[in-house]
Amino acid sequence: MRKLWGGRFAEGPDALTEQLNNSLVFDARLWRHDILGSIAHAEMLAECRILTKQESEKIVAGLQAILAEIDAGKLEIPEDAEDIHTAIEGLLFDRIGGVAGKLHTARSRNDQVATDIRLYLRDCCDTLVEHLIVLQGTLVSVADREMGVTLPGCTHLQHAQPVLLAHHMLAYFWMLDRDRERLQDCRGRLNRSPLGSGALAGTGFPINRELTANKLGFSGVLPNSMDGVADRDFAVEFLADAAIIAMHLSRFAEEIILWNTPEFRFVELHDSVTTGSSIMPQKKNPDVAELIRGKSGRVLGNLVTMLTVLKGLPLAYNKDLQEDKEPLFDTFDTLNLVIPAMNKMLSTALFNRDRMAEATRGDFSTATDLADLLVRHGFTFRDAHDAVGAIVQHCIATGTVLESLDEDALISAVPQLGSGAVAAIEVLKVTNSVASRTSQGGTAPTAVTQQLALARQRLEAQNRS
Ligand code: ARG
Repeated sequence: MRKLWGGRFAEGPDALTEQLNNSLVFDARLWRHDILGSIAHAEMLAECRILTKQESEKIVAGLQAILAEIDAGKLEIPEDAEDIHTAIEGLLFDRIGGVAGKLHTARSRNDQVATDIRLYLRDCCDTLVEHLIVLQGTLVSVADREMGVTLPGCTHLQHAQPVLLAHHMLAYFWMLDRDRERLQDCRGRLNRSPLGSGALAGTGFPINRELTANKLGFSGVLPNSMDGVADRDFAVEFLADAAIIAMHLSRFAEEIILWNTPEFRFVELHDSVTTGSSIMPQKKNPDVAELIRGKSGRVLGNLVTMLTVLKGLPLAYNKDLQEDKEPLFDTFDTLNLVIPAMNKMLSTALFNRDRMAEATRGDFSTATDLADLLVRHGFTFRDAHDAVGAIVQHCIATGTVLESLDEDALISAVPQLGSGAVAAIEVLKVTNSVASRTSQGGTAPTAVTQQLALARQRLEAQNRS
């Protein structure tokens, strides 16, 4: 394939230089965005009378035909090009001849590649937002279906206070909701056009940057041509948003792995999202959950890679920037797989309601409820805490549990309780404990039902937009 810059060289590049310099092996996937960017540029060149109408039409028709043929699998991207921009220009030259050489008027590969990545990432944001919304929908369905189910709520992975399973599921709903917002924010900020920045300093041709920005669906143009070709902050932002998503999914996956152990048995994963062992016939391993957790590592790594590539670069374009693509592509591919996989795993999982209920028995997780009751009987919270602590200690020493305490035992432990002992027996019950936490965002069925309605509204607003 014809090189774009052979003129000044007596000798071609060394094989290793070519290999190092080549980005086609990974940037070929930008072909569509590259062609769309070129079509907009060629149209603008005619509208600004930099090319004749005929020249522009020839170029645009050629590019459209190339796009359609690659799309239909009838045309291969040539493998001997340096990068996707060179490859597409080469294809255009083969098709329409010398006039193809006019496409690059008033443009550089530097503003071209910055445009391509922004267009590409815009689509990536849209796809990931769609995946998140589907997963949020599944969380809402599970919360709705499991509304009456309680399980131990933990802090320090120790039983703390009983909560509703629906409450636990909705916690992830809101994390993903912020993840969705972050991606949408990122999309808004990256959706500005660098096209027309040229190599770094702009161009002397009378171009119209607003025109190409409009044609490509950008919300405006970047005001500084050096910034336009040099920065990849939008890529960092995308990678950071993605890393947060991967981190959230990894935490959720970790819980599912724990809940799926014989010690917990809170959840049973469907066969279709598990794998067997080559040696132990009894095994059913939660590989999907483990890989969701494991793959968060590379997504976080890609963020660090991008920041490291950028941090020492002088303005404006440097070839180091070519290293932006693999982390971006890898992160998108990973989340494009992992979010739907999480959805599949969650939507087919069976929650073991009896086991969850059983796990709250005798776990002292209603101790706070008893302390709260004492406060209503005039104790300061600190004194109540001490009194209930002593009761717990007594239970542990005698091998009993809180819910087995009767009126007499309670009165002898805390004489000030008096006639309140009957009520104390009631507050020690798990269902009553859960039902009492009616504060906004709390775990009482009334509060979680309101939260679920809010989550539904949130989803519906997204699905409408
Ligand atoms: N493949 C390059 C990249 O990804 C395209 C821009 C090349 N520009 C240049 N001046 N060599 O960044």
